[in-house]
Amino acid sequence: MSKILLAGGAGYIGSHTAVELLNAGYEVVTADNYSNSCPEALKRVEKITGKQIKAYELDIKDIKALENVFEENDIDSVIHFAGLKAVGESVEKPVLYYRNNIDTTLSLLECMEKYKVRNIIFSSSATVYGEENPVPYTEQMKRGTCTNPYGWTKVMMEQILEDAAKAQKELSVVLLRYFNPIGAHPSGMIGEDPQGIPNNLMPFVAQVAVGRREKLTIFGKDYDTPDGTCRRDYIHVVDLAKGHVKAIEYAQKNKGTEVFNLGTGTPYSVAEIVDTFERVNEMKINHVYGERRAGDLPESYANADKALEILGWKTEKTLEDMCRDTWNWQKNNPNGYK
Ligand code: NAD
Ligand code: UFG
Repeated sequence: MSKILLAGGAGYIGSHTAVELLNAGYEVVTADNYSNSCPEALKRVEKITGKQIKAYELDIKDIKALENVFEENDIDSVIHFAGLKAVGESVEKPVLYYRNNIDTTLSLLECMEKYKVRNIIFSSSATVYGEENPVPYTEQMKRGTCTNPYGWTKVMMEQILEDAAKAQKELSVVLLRYFNPIGAHPSGMIGEDPQGIPNNLMPFVAQVAVGRREKLTIFGKDYDTPDGTCRRDYIHVVDLAKGHVKAIEYAQKNKGTEVFNLGTGTPYSVAEIVDTFERVNEMKINHVYGERRAGDLPESYANADKALEILGWKTEKTLEDMCRDTWNWQKNNPNGYK
């Protein structure tokens, strides 16, 4: 079975994708500098699946170190998760974000060309739809205007990958635009383990639940939405991971660039997330309402039809599953992987 290189494979989405790939019979090689993850996540993936991962510790920007991975392994396809992803930090450190996210992409493409690796799946984001496009987002919409450097790196990386596929006719590029991944593997052994104060809603809720944070602030309740709080397309990380297995199968059979939304198509509000987490896990989440957060859109959700039509993929898990599995991970690992 073919060998898949997961760049940034020790991270939240990479580790869950590794489980699904191993379960589907692929061999998995990871390359990660552990700047936002740790090798323990990969050990847990091996425990869950009973299979082995070949893990390299390196910076993907370091082309010599990366070439060694391609030299030592007969890689069939690459999944590019390796990026910095904190929106607020990207505003403070734009150069760091452009350097890391764009250089990792260029290094991977250069190595792929040299070693004749023809398939790359890229972790893009709904953020590329920007501010102008109406919801639900469809893949043929033009990329929009982003509100932060993180978002712009995704727009630029999509462009770079598309251009590479135009120039190299044998290349297959699959751009996966993730909506809001939450949840954890049902085993409770792997999950999201943010460093410092979580930026994202679900890890913050989970840390309030486990007593690491005193209370959640809900950012804004005066949006033009049914309950006044923002709505997002939350997707269970295991469903998302399975989407990557479908994308690999697609890339192996097709050439050129294709774009897919990976979302459920159903938005939930921040208040609904808190309510569902409380109900499913039979607990209270201490929360207050605060000011709007700069840059937040009122609503973001996918039209998920294309992934179903072409990849035969759709989400299977419910919001209840997402809330239950998040808590199962957090309560078993109150301090994450530490
Ligand atoms: P994550 O931070 O958990 O995983 C990213 C991994 O890449 C980490 O293990 C990190 O150590 C590694 N990495 C970063 N720079 C590297 C470098 N130069 N060399 C080697 N390794 C490097 O994040 P995640 O949530 O798993 O996200 C994976 C990808 O999906 C990212 O590109 C992210 O932007 C994208 N994405 C995430 C979300 C989300 O909400 N989680 C939404 C849309 C898109
Ligand atoms: N929120 C709160 N309180 C918090 C954290 C978040 O109320 O403490 C709210 C936000 O205001 C937003 C919703 O919860 O309304 C979701 O926020 P997240 O930060 O979890 O997610 P975003 O939709 O803002 O951002 C996510 C990813 C980005 C990506 C973007 C668009 O984190 O990487 O989706 O795809 F760019």
